[in-house]
Amino acid sequence: MIKTDNVKAGLKAGLVVVAALASLTAFALTEKQQAAVTERLEPVGKVCVQGDADCGTVVAVASSGPRSGEDVYNAACMACHSTGAGGAPKVGDLAAWGDRIAKGTDVLYDSGINGLAGTGMIAKGGCMSCSDEEVQFAVDYMVENSQ
Ligand code: HEC
Repeated sequence: MIKTDNVKAGLKAGLVVVAALASLTAFALTEKQQAAVTERLEPVGKVCVQGDADCGTVVAVASSGPRSGEDVYNAACMACHSTGAGGAPKVGDLAAWGDRIAKGTDVLYDSGINGLAGTGMIAKGGCMSCSDEEVQFAVDYMVENSQ
């Protein structure tokens, strides 16, 4: 029959071993490793939650108004206008843009916003989340890089 005292002693010894292992692990990290861990954890503390007073640039990006022409172009126009897909005038192709630019900026804005009936140029290039202003910026960007 096992004596209760023996079991208790055994448990105690086990606990001591566990405690010793735990403290060993704690001291096993060198200062350098701890610094590295702290550094890895740091960005978590810097995460910005909506409503926080000090969100630095995160909020600035989220509320910075219309996207730039380049951003809109890259997101919504490039697929056709960098490849010439469906007869789209390629950005940088001066010959393809010459006659179009001659029509005037307002005509080009209108084509960008409303599309060109009967062609692959659909309204806003299909970017329904793009504002009219953003499409105009994208047209400006394309024209600037094609003359
Ligand atoms: C699905 C392909 C496609 C996408 C996406 C697209 N375009 Fe076009 N785009 C065309 C084609 C094709 C033409 C040439 C139409 C023609 O004149 O036959 C064109 C022509 C144009 C023209 C010249 C219009 C004119 O009056 O001569 C402008 C400006 C233009 N696109 C702006 C944009 C902008 C800005 C975007 C992005 C917001 C965009 N396009 C996205 C296919 C596309």
